[in-house]
Amino acid sequence: LMDNDKDEKIDLICKEKVAFVTLGAGNPVPYFEKLKEAKIIAIPVVPNLKLAKRVEAKGADALIIEGMEAGGHIGKLTTLSLMTQVVPEINIPVIAAGGFADGRGLAAALIMGASGIQAGTRFYASKECTAHINAKKKIVEAGDTDTEITGYLRGHSVRGIKNKMTEKYIELEKEHAPYEQLHDLIAGTSRKAPIDGNVEWGLVQAGQSLSVIKALDSCEEIINNMIKEANYALKKASDFLN
Ligand SMILES: Cc1cc2nc3c(=O)[nH]c(=O)nc-3n(C[C@H](O)[C@H](O)[C@H](O)COP(=O)(O)O)c2cc1C
Repeated sequence: LMDNDKDEKIDLICKEKVAFVTLGAGNPVPYFEKLKEAKIIAIPVVPNLKLAKRVEAKGADALIIEGMEAGGHIGKLTTLSLMTQVVPEINIPVIAAGGFADGRGLAAALIMGASGIQAGTRFYASKECTAHINAKKKIVEAGDTDTEITGYLRGHSVRGIKNKMTEKYIELEKEHAPYEQLHDLIAGTSRKAPIDGNVEWGLVQAGQSLSVIKALDSCEEIINNMIKEANYALKKASDFLN
C-alpha cells in the first residue's frame, strides 16, 4: 500500500480473481469493500492490537500480526507480545509472523492460539527464490546478531543484514545528518541487493532468526521439515506437561 499505483494493482487483483491478498504498509480498510465484492479474501498485516481490532471490525477475513523480529518493514512490538495480546481479543483467524524459521516456532505459534504462521526470511534462502545468489548466501551465512534496523528514528524501520550501507546509515543518523542524505543512501537498496547482487551497498532485508537457516533448501523441504518438527515439538511439550 506504499505504491503510487496501489489502486490499479487492487483493480488488477480483483479482475484476476486471485484467491487471497495480504495488505501491508498503509491503510487497508478502503479496499475491503472492493475485495469483498470480488470474493477475494483480504488479510491485512497489523503491528498492534488497536489496528487488529480496527481491521476486524471493518471486515478483514483474517489478519497477520507481524513482530519486529521480521525482515523488511517492521513495527515496534515483538511477535510474542503480539501473540499474547492480540490472539485472545480477535475472532477471525490470526496468522503470526516475525522470527519463524523452523517447526518449533510453528508449534509455539499454534500453542499461542494463532491459526498459522507467515515466514519470509526462511523462504529467501530457498532454491525457488529468484533473488540474486549473493543475497541468498548472505542469509545462510548470517547469525542471530547480524541484522540492523535502518530508519527507526524516522518511523520507517526496515530490518536487514548489516553491511557497509547500514553501518554508514547508523553513523549518519548518530550525526543527525539531514533527511536527504539518509534518503540518498537508502534509495534503491531493495533492488541493489536482491537483483544486482550488491550485498554491501544494497539491503538484504532479513529477520533475526538466521542461525537456524543452514542451507538453500527447496520450499517443499522447508515446509515438510517445519511440519515434522512442529509435530515433534507439540508432542514433547505435551509429554513434558503430563
Ligand atoms: C526480503 C523481504 C521482503 C518483504 N517484502 C514484503 C512486502 O513487500 N510486503 C509485506 O507485506 N511484507 C513483506 N515482507 C515481510 C514478510 O511478508 C513476512 O511478514 C516477514 O518476513 C516475516 O518475518 P521473518 O522474515 O522473520 O520470517 C518481506 C520480508 C522479507 C524478508
